[in-house]
Amino acid sequence: MKSLRTASALKPAREGILAVLREPSMIDRIQGVIRELQLDDELSVTDTLDDALRRIRSGSTPRVLLLDLGESAAPIAEVSAARAVAGADLKLVVLGTVNDVALFRDLLSAGASDYLVKPSTREALAAVLERTSAAAGATPDGLGRVIVFIGSRGGVGATTSAVSCAWLMATERRERVALVDLDLHFGTVALKLDLDPGSGLCEALEQPSRIDSLFIERAMIKVNDNLRVLAAEASAAQHLAVDAGAVDMLLHELRRKFVRVTVDLPRGASPMQRVVLAAASHVVVFCERSLAGLRDTIRLQTLVREQAPQARLWLIEAGASGERALIGKSEFEKGIGKSLDANLSYDPKSASAAPNPGQPLPEGSRAKDGIGPKMFTEENIALAEALEDVARTTGHTLVELAIDWLLAQSPVVSVIAGAKTAQQVKANASSSGWHLTQNDLAQIEEVLSRAPHPIA
Ligand SMILES: Nc1ncnc2c1ncn2[C@@H]1O[C@H](COP(=O)(O)OP(=O)(O)O)[C@@H](O)[C@H]1O
Ligand SMILES: [Mg+2]
Repeated sequence: MKSLRTASALKPAREGILAVLREPSMIDRIQGVIRELQLDDELSVTDTLDDALRRIRSGSTPRVLLLDLGESAAPIAEVSAARAVAGADLKLVVLGTVNDVALFRDLLSAGASDYLVKPSTREALAAVLERTSAAAGATPDGLGRVIVFIGSRGGVGATTSAVSCAWLMATERRERVALVDLDLHFGTVALKLDLDPGSGLCEALEQPSRIDSLFIERAMIKVNDNLRVLAAEASAAQHLAVDAGAVDMLLHELRRKFVRVTVDLPRGASPMQRVVLAAASHVVVFCERSLAGLRDTIRLQTLVREQAPQARLWLIEAGASGERALIGKSEFEKGIGKSLDANLSYDPKSASAAPNPGQPLPEGSRAKDGIGPKMFTEENIALAEALEDVARTTGHTLVELAIDWLLAQSPVVSVIAGAKTAQQVKANASSSGWHLTQNDLAQIEEVLSRAPHPIA
């Protein structure tokens, strides 16, 4: 982490727009957009890609490289060459004349950040040139991050979590969030938020040529200032011929406009699922500790490894009712060859309170008022994560760590731990029979010393 930060600090800041363009009208239009957006970027124009790359090799570090490949015989090769020379964090925008999904996808795979068909609209140029989407949380090329939610089985809380996370990011963190339900027939995102999904998403996916910034704006349903939803409720009789390329284009368009694009992805391994995974920064899999849940978690892990090697995979222990968790946790973890990253706590009260008025789960949660906002602050969450890291190094859970730490404090001689479920009693009991070492205690003290208020 430290070395990454140092490396980025040493890099010169990217400034300016370098354009490989020959059409004076296009140059004028870009200059107009730069003025209109009041960007302080200088526009440098050159005739050939070779010349642009020569400038970059000799130290020029533009923020955006605009590449008109309308007359190029080998656009894919030129994009690859530009990406290789210019580095991963340059925004590489290609202009061309062909409106074709296959070409668009090939250009993106070769390293383009975006593709605009000429004559590009002012809005499209403004969207690629403005700096706002490169805000915190975006990928290095300035596009929003895709977070995918999948359940290893049905009914494990994947949709509830997708809705809750999107809603929290939009309202608590004030990030611009798109929430997309790709279960076009049986999805429940719109239902959970009490929205009429309309027909926009199906139209977009069946006619990708219609996907543009304006169309998406009209098709999305506004939940609040920062949260927009794209969902469908296609009838069971409606056959939908969804092209994976259309999903790819849709995600790309959304990533231009939103810092976070959360996707509720139905389980499966179709081309659509593959395309979504390929665009993901995070994939959150909800794992049910049943035999079928184990089998499907393993399958989903393989799918993510193959289709989304770039993504951070989160395995969340879930299963809403708890009664379906028939495989022990350690046995399950042995089966999947990895520790579960977190647990989705079973909270039927909030779950049943929230969906009725069409609220996301955090709205109905006991954590919403009173102690919630005070407890779940960014600082406290960071501290909890740091403690979880310490617990992981000891091979024990956070609860076991907490109980043993308390026992190590003088003059504590015994710890009375509350529990509402048999599972919690077991978790508390498993803290006996081991002790934190001096080194563990020192690590915990170090984390606690970062707390805004003294602890203990
Ligand atoms: N953490 C939770 N605790 C209790 N019930 C939950 C929880 N998460 C979801 N539920 C409930 O479980 C049911 C299935 O949830 P849902 O999110 O639709 O699952 P999935 O998308 O995995 O099929 C819903 O009735 C929901 O209200
Ligand atoms: Mg669901």
